[in-house]
Amino acid sequence: MILVLNGPNLNRLGLREPGVYGSQTLEDLERLCEEWGAELGVPVTCRQNNHEGQLLEWIQDAEDHGFAGIVLNPGALTHYSYALRDAIAGQRLPVVEVHISNVDAREEFRHKSVTAAVCRGKISGLGFLGYRLAIEALVEGE
Ligand code: DQA
Repeated sequence: MILVLNGPNLNRLGLREPGVYGSQTLEDLERLCEEWGAELGVPVTCRQNNHEGQLLEWIQDAEDHGFAGIVLNPGALTHYSYALRDAIAGQRLPVVEVHISNVDAREEFRHKSVTAAVCRGKISGLGFLGYRLAIEALVEGE
């Protein structure tokens, strides 16, 4: 079982800066992730929350709840949340960080990720495809 977590403001996909994030919604993204999981033979559970603490608790509890890996788009928390970094570092599941936009081609503050160093890998700038690649990597045990 793979857990796909989306952080702050990703519930606004489709409405939010469509030039940057596209016109598809979070619901579209979550349906795609479930379909990709089904193709790869692994159940995918998707969750989104705007609150840091809720994301921390989902990450802390993921292994106990039977998940084998986490796909995480932390939104802006990527750039400053040491609490999120510590939550990732403090558990055993592999986490793949995903960004829809190419964070390195955007504002300077987005170039820094405080979470990437404690993740298995990071995918940025490939739109929703990044989630598929992250699920594949976790299924392959990468
Ligand atoms: C994002 C990039 C972040 O810088 C931003 O704060 C987001 C979305 C992305 O998916 O491209 O909320 O994580």
